[in-house]
Amino acid sequence: MKVGMSLTAWVLRQQSQHPGARGELSTLLLHIALAARMVAQQVAEAPLRGLIGKFGKQNVQGEEQAKLDVVADEVFLEAMMASDVVSALVSEEREDPAYMPEDWGRAHYTVFYDPLDGSSNIDVNVTIGSIFGIYRHRPTDRGRLEDLLRPGRDQIAAGYVMYGSSTLLVLCTEDSGVQGFTLAPGTGEFFLTDADMTMPKMGTCYSVNGSRTPFWDDTTRRVVESFRDGQVQGPKRTERYIGSLIADFHRTLLKGGIFMYPGEVQKPEGKLRLLYEAAPLAMIAERAGGGAHDGKMRILDKVGEKLHERTPLFIGSRIDVEESQRVLAEG
Ligand code: AHG
Ligand code: MN
Ligand code: MN
Repeated sequence: MKVGMSLTAWVLRQQSQHPGARGELSTLLLHIALAARMVAQQVAEAPLRGLIGKFGKQNVQGEEQAKLDVVADEVFLEAMMASDVVSALVSEEREDPAYMPEDWGRAHYTVFYDPLDGSSNIDVNVTIGSIFGIYRHRPTDRGRLEDLLRPGRDQIAAGYVMYGSSTLLVLCTEDSGVQGFTLAPGTGEFFLTDADMTMPKMGTCYSVNGSRTPFWDDTTRRVVESFRDGQVQGPKRTERYIGSLIADFHRTLLKGGIFMYPGEVQKPEGKLRLLYEAAPLAMIAERAGGGAHDGKMRILDKVGEKLHERTPLFIGSRIDVEESQRVLAEG
């Protein structure tokens, strides 16, 4: 087995480039990796542990929770609290911040996370994942809602975990490129397998749930049709749609292309959530040379008005994203 740099070694090397760093971000990233390892095991053994199927409750989004949604949420919550460096945790599965200790100022990080993304694919054994975005507190922050509602460009780290044929942790920090670490199940360590990932500037496929076509406005329909009918720069695209955002995004990161979950006439805000789906992936996309917008503005400049704010999302290769903006601007 080719042994690349371990995640632990990479994190410590990043830290060494910040003289005076106290190792808090390192600690947090390694606790997220711990959670990823634990969730990976639950996912791999779900059928054996009776963890397939519904939990029997709805979450704050009004969505039926899968058993693994609840398990993954608990694991990430416990692991990040154990890191002792976070002062707020916001989960897709919980209406209010999952964790907000009294001694707000002592710890310095806020984490938004989607503990299990792609829940509809759990029961059919298709790749699912977890998504996280990390913010460092400003001295003025006091744990108020407005302190949590920040633009994604303020993230100091972001990433996702894919529980697929292998378990892959993809992340970037404020001063690193996009790095992919693969879990070696036997040792329980993540090893660098995809260093400094960059997104092809143009793709060969577009990714959208075509069954939503009747619900889009005419301009949105024209954007999707322009990719479908070869009316954008580059080759005739093919359509790929897995239905797990992180899997559709990861293919886009590696192969290029564009993923679209547009707003609809009745639901202009779209389906995906800004703070723990769109913003973390937008940081990864831009750091890899791609882009992300909501149909009107850059995702990383968007400030939510509530923790579970939804947003339309167009994310992918630089040229594909620019082409989507061109067609949208034509109206
Ligand atoms: P989650 O499982 O965290 O609720 O996310 C599901 C999201 C995302 O993973 C995916 O892109 C999208 O839902 C698929 O939605 P449709 O089934 O409406 O296409
Ligand atoms: Mn999700
Ligand atoms: Mn989820």
